[in-house]
Amino acid sequence: MTNQWIERRKKDQYYKLAKLKGYRSRAAYKLLQTTRTYKLMLPGQKVVDLGSQPGGWLQIAREAVGPEGLVLGVDIKKIEPLPYPNVRLIEADIYSEDLPERIISELKGPADVVLSDLAPTIIGAWDVDHARQVDLARAALRILQEVLKRGGNAFIKLFHGPELRRFQDEADEFFEKSRLLKPKASRPESSEVYYLGLDFKMKWMPPEPKA
Ligand SMILES: C[S@@+](CC[C@H](N)C(=O)[O-])C[C@H]1O[C@@H](n2cnc3c(N)ncnc32)[C@H](O)[C@@H]1O
Repeated sequence: MTNQWIERRKKDQYYKLAKLKGYRSRAAYKLLQTTRTYKLMLPGQKVVDLGSQPGGWLQIAREAVGPEGLVLGVDIKKIEPLPYPNVRLIEADIYSEDLPERIISELKGPADVVLSDLAPTIIGAWDVDHARQVDLARAALRILQEVLKRGGNAFIKLFHGPELRRFQDEADEFFEKSRLLKPKASRPESSEVYYLGLDFKMKWMPPEPKA
């Protein structure tokens, strides 16, 4: 982290707000703005958050679903537990074959909403970062086909680049409505955008057990 980066972060309004409100990441505001505008998550729902460390999105999701709902965070890195009964955690690689089964087992059924803020370690080579990001988004798309309820919603991070349009076309096969979003809290200089898929078309079937 350079001094310039640290100084810029201190001036950032969402960074300050997140500190003030006790959110673990400024990214929390990207999800908050989207859920307020599109009613992405509702009280009582089950939400799975892929790539959830340190946990800002988990905090927003658990507020949105309330005490009757359930939020499950998945990350390859350890997430500091959150002190709420409606938040559960799985430490796993998104590419692990048995992950859909584990998600269904933790949620005791399919999810109403799948979130993915999965992101690779940025190396600064734009084409490599973009390819890795889309690969993670495709992994999220494969998982949601096994864990999302008919009528459910998804919100998935992507980076601009040549694969973006192809990803949108692939994902659009599964949702009645969709759009690409750039929440206000997403830094203008960042190439990130989010795919919002509303009203999942497929009927949920329990995942095939992986040997
Ligand atoms: C931008 S951060 C998520 C921030 C989070 N939404 C929040 O508000 O705190 C992206 C996360 O994706 C996770 N990630 C990247 N590759 C992964 C993989 N293969 N399996 C699971 N998690 C992964 C990283 O460990 C990282 O914590």
